[in-house]
Amino acid sequence: MEDIFSVSVIKLNDIVRHMLVEMTRGLKEDNHSLKMLPSHVIKRPTGNETGSYLALDLGGSNFRVCEVILEGNGSTRIQQRKYTVSAELKSGTREQLFDFFADCVVRFLKENTRDPDRPRKMGFTFSFPVWQTSIKQGSLIHWNKGFSVPSVQGGDVVQMLQDALDRKKVNVTVTALVNDTTGTLISHAYSQPNTSIAVILGTGTNAAYVEKAENIFKYKQEIPTGEMIINTEWGSFDEEFAVLPRTKYDRRLDRTTLNPGRMPFEKMISGMYLGEIVRLVLLDLIRTGEIFSGQERSLKLDVPYAFETATMSRIERDHSIDLNDTKSVLQDLLDIPHTTLYDRIIVRSVCELVGKRSARLSAAGIAAVATKINCLNGCVVAIDGSLFELYPHYSNRMRDALGEILGISAENIILEQARDGSGQGAALIAALAAE
Ligand code: BGC
Repeated sequence: MEDIFSVSVIKLNDIVRHMLVEMTRGLKEDNHSLKMLPSHVIKRPTGNETGSYLALDLGGSNFRVCEVILEGNGSTRIQQRKYTVSAELKSGTREQLFDFFADCVVRFLKENTRDPDRPRKMGFTFSFPVWQTSIKQGSLIHWNKGFSVPSVQGGDVVQMLQDALDRKKVNVTVTALVNDTTGTLISHAYSQPNTSIAVILGTGTNAAYVEKAENIFKYKQEIPTGEMIINTEWGSFDEEFAVLPRTKYDRRLDRTTLNPGRMPFEKMISGMYLGEIVRLVLLDLIRTGEIFSGQERSLKLDVPYAFETATMSRIERDHSIDLNDTKSVLQDLLDIPHTTLYDRIIVRSVCELVGKRSARLSAAGIAAVATKINCLNGCVVAIDGSLFELYPHYSNRMRDALGEILGISAENIILEQARDGSGQGAALIAALAAE
């Protein structure tokens, strides 16, 4: 297992080189594995922007409505409510999905504001690959992260949202469409103007960065500011399977997803999939009698996605001599009543291998983007998402890998935790769009 899941520094460097080639290709024309989508956001905030905006933020696991008050001087006040997108909605019809969004906005305005009927502007964070034709217009290229509402694909998602809001007679105009990476970059730049890269490491993964206009060959319009944020959509990196060190478990996982063959980088890195990779490895080790021998099979472990990435976090956080918490996790969550210390050590090692591989691959992605924009002598990377924030050792493992790839220059790349940047960023982009 160690052999197949460890990613050597040679491999990391191969990945960086291949990603650099793919980034340049993606900036020249469409239909490469790195989509390099122009965000139409052509300036970063100064920190002086003011006003009140709504934001609607559809990520992976979370859906939020926020009201953001930009106070100037880089500070904001934000109130937000989270809502759950049910499994039925994730694979239902387009009207059901967008009506649900509009209903949540109605509820939010009624419950949290004094004058729900006054006109408001809204930024829409839609964290899926979107081909944008303007700051407030764009069509979904394909779903991922477990969503599958076919009739959304191809149409303008802003229009769909606006139509739903109009149907519910809500006095809100959608004025900006934003990916969560772009939102995070802009929101971090509000207080840290030298932020030039943003990364999401959560249910899904992706990165956006500030690119010089002259390098975006496929974008034919003039860019007066000389720069634009590019959404790399790095989750789909290496769909040609040239460089990523995929194991038989990655291939097995891929075959059972709603988007087989797609998003290989995301499937090796993000929170939606790590637990499932561990589950597949454990099933193999049980089958060969290497762990949990002599007891009844746990039916729970047979259920796809029953082993969550949050469980891996918990196991990796267990530093007790007997791995007692790991014992409880296996007992309570997975119905495996009797485990030896040896079993638990193996389970923890598998979590560590899969978790570490994810951190090292994402570091390779960051090294590639930082090299692409020539910022190895100093740049801030804003990072949001549960893996970076909550998974034990994740950020240290990333920093170690960055050091192996970039040597001393790695010290100039500052990885900073960004929180809730995507909603706030959408509001800021709505503000910048209104200028
Ligand atoms: C989506 C990206 C998004 C990322 C993080 C990926 O699945 O394709 O657009 O930025 O998840 O939420």
